[in-house]
Amino acid sequence: MTLGAKGRFITFEGIDGSGKSTQARLLADHLRAQGVDVLLTREPGGSAGAEEIRALVLEGDPDRWSPETEILLFTAARRDHLERTINPALAAGQVVICDRFADSTRMYQGLKRAEGDRDLRALVDQLHTLMIGREPDLTVLIDMDPATGLGRALSRATKEERFEGFGQTLQENMRAGFLDLADQYSDRFVVIDGARAIDTVADEVAKTVLEHLQ
Ligand code: ADP
Ligand code: TYD
Repeated sequence: MTLGAKGRFITFEGIDGSGKSTQARLLADHLRAQGVDVLLTREPGGSAGAEEIRALVLEGDPDRWSPETEILLFTAARRDHLERTINPALAAGQVVICDRFADSTRMYQGLKRAEGDRDLRALVDQLHTLMIGREPDLTVLIDMDPATGLGRALSRATKEERFEGFGQTLQENMRAGFLDLADQYSDRFVVIDGARAIDTVADEVAKTVLEHLQ
């Protein structure tokens, strides 16, 4: 499939355990089978420096960083990922599929986590404008009930659990927040029901993305 010199930037978003990584990988496989040049990547991470920052933000004590410092770390990782991985791939005409991007920071760092917390969404958006300044061409929101998503996420044995201890109420707020983002940026978002069999979800993702690419 010819996409011209300008690549396309597709992101997957959703709560922990919603199936983003699974669906991003299946979409990459599907597009590659059709001859599309795909780069599959993820955040936080996706470049050597950003993968080092990933360990700093996802491992260790939940109070390890202040909320503001955490926003700076995620944004620093994103800037490195953009400079070293995403922008060169897009310039080479590749389709970049990224598991999470700036919408995750809008939710995980931007939403209030507890009563009395500051609302940092404006700060997230300001820093994004200043240091990132680019949105995806298409964002696939895998929407699902947090109880199911959390069960899936916690069944994975991992050290990367600073955010997975958040519990169900926060995940409910997060789900609602992602759906609000999809409304706010309706020109680039598609919402897909993730509470179905993996292949059913993958078929709908592939159909939607192909329509968008053509
Ligand atoms: P995320 O990247 O959103 O956290 P993953 O793709 O890693 O989610 O999926 C979390 C877990 O749930 C994995 O063990 C995966 O195999 C499983 N899973 C993903 N999608 C589905 C689905 N549609 N139905 C059942 N299990 C799923
Ligand atoms: P990820 O590996 O995608 O986790 P999962 O597969 O469980 O969805 O992301 C790890 C965690 O990082 C996840 O809990 C969300 C969090 N995160 C943020 O808090 N801010 C961000 O900007 C990003 C990209 C991720």
